[in-house]
Amino acid sequence: MTTEGAPLRSTTGRRILAAFGAVLVLFGIALSVQLTTLHKIGEAESEVARLDHAKHAGHMAAAQVREQYIHQAHTLIEFGPGHLGHYQIVVEETNRAIQHLESVSETASDKQLATQIAALAHQNDRDFRTIVVPAITRGDREAVAKLGDGLEEIVDRVVDLNEQLNADLEARSIAARERAESLRSQSVTWTIVCFALAIVLATGVGLWLMRTIVRRVEALRAGARRVGSGDLSARIVLEGHDEFAELASSFNQMAASLSDEQAALVKSQKLASIGQVAAGVAHEINNPLSVILGYTKLLRKEGSAHAEELQIIEDEARLCQRIVSELLELARPQRLETSAVDLAEIAREAIERLTDAGALRDRSVQLLDGPAVVVSADAGKLRQVIANVVVNAAEATPPSGTITIDAKTRGDEATLTVADDGPGIPPEVQNTLFEPFVTTKPKGTGLGLAIAQAIVDAHGGRISVESSPDAGTRVSLRLPVSHRAEAAAR
Ligand SMILES: Nc1ncnc2c1ncn2[C@@H]1O[C@H](COP(=O)(O)OP(=O)(O)OP(=O)(O)O)[C@@H](O)[C@H]1O
Ligand SMILES: [Mg+2]
Repeated sequence: MTTEGAPLRSTTGRRILAAFGAVLVLFGIALSVQLTTLHKIGEAESEVARLDHAKHAGHMAAAQVREQYIHQAHTLIEFGPGHLGHYQIVVEETNRAIQHLESVSETASDKQLATQIAALAHQNDRDFRTIVVPAITRGDREAVAKLGDGLEEIVDRVVDLNEQLNADLEARSIAARERAESLRSQSVTWTIVCFALAIVLATGVGLWLMRTIVRRVEALRAGARRVGSGDLSARIVLEGHDEFAELASSFNQMAASLSDEQAALVKSQKLASIGQVAAGVAHEINNPLSVILGYTKLLRKEGSAHAEELQIIEDEARLCQRIVSELLELARPQRLETSAVDLAEIAREAIERLTDAGALRDRSVQLLDGPAVVVSADAGKLRQVIANVVVNAAEATPPSGTITIDAKTRGDEATLTVADDGPGIPPEVQNTLFEPFVTTKPKGTGLGLAIAQAIVDAHGGRISVESSPDAGTRVSLRLPVSHRAEAAAR
């Protein structure tokens, strides 16, 4: 039970949170895998773009070197310096293209190839300026024709180097593309796996909620329905320690106290109607009973021949009187004249009186020694209760039987037990002992224990009975100890 003020242990809330948390974690993992893969795909694609850019720069550089040679060839054909101004512009463009190629080259082998291309381009320009142009100026056509072939050869080597560079870049570009493609398909597989797992998990969570929550709510609803339809014995059995189990336990307590209250209400209503009947009966019957008793007494005094029959009439009339007066006592609200009394002392007095009256039928009654057990009570009424219980014990036990009375104080409670070694309480009356008119004795009224309970209740105490055929019967009276009364008694 959750006590007031204690933090509520929301077990169900925690479980639901954990279940949905697991689904969320799965989605989180799927998302982070997706993001990482997307990042890697982006890297691979930008590598492809860089490699394509480098390929383009290689092509541009090679084309520019070829362009440079075309302008050299122009000068060779013209065989004069007329075109050299324009050639200079082309050389500058070639230098820019080669510088660009060097700047975009990433790997050592790319850089080496770019450096070789740059060296050949510079060699081509240098040979043209320092050897070919002076030969033209000198008018040496034969030397110029040979030198022209050398220049073209350099250009061919540049083209070869560029093809080598291009093949290398292309291979890496294909590898990067394939990597991006494989990452894309991995990402699709992961997404499918994560979603499938999330669906399985969500279905599992749903089924689990069905099992643990819906079923428990259903059990609570069924219990509430039974109580609602008037079955106060309905109890809800829920295993575990969650809120539903706590609710079920609170519900069971509520049903139990409702049932107790209903029983108490029925009992008080029963007593009230008994009281009304008893008052009417007492009023109507007491006078005729007194007359009957008066006449029987008179007839016996005069020495009637029917003395035995008269005795029976007198006994039965007295039983009627007793029933009426006990009924009145049971129905009337108990008015207590309380004082500090010692339970053991009251028990001793009760035994003495019963012994004097011959009510104990020579059974041996033992009152155990002990310190005074002081309670604040109506001594007369408590004596009546003890007397009834002891007489019941005496009536139940065989002549050799023993009755033991023990009075004790335990904490704030005073206890008086009357134990006998008789045959125990007959099963047919075990559950209705404290109800009026429940008796197994031919001459019993069945009001003794009902009155005893009414008196003990009025004292704020409890009376209970334990009984078994082997161990006899033990009746316990529990009364609250009044510390003030205890002090007053000292
Ligand atoms: N110590 C006991 N041993 C066995 N049965 C007992 C004992 N005390 C009570 N009972 C049973 O409980 C019944 C009810 O007891 P209760 O005192 O209320 O009425 P009663 O003794 O039958 O009648 P009354 O007390 O009015 O004479 C008894 O009839 C008897 O069957
Ligand atoms: Mg009795």
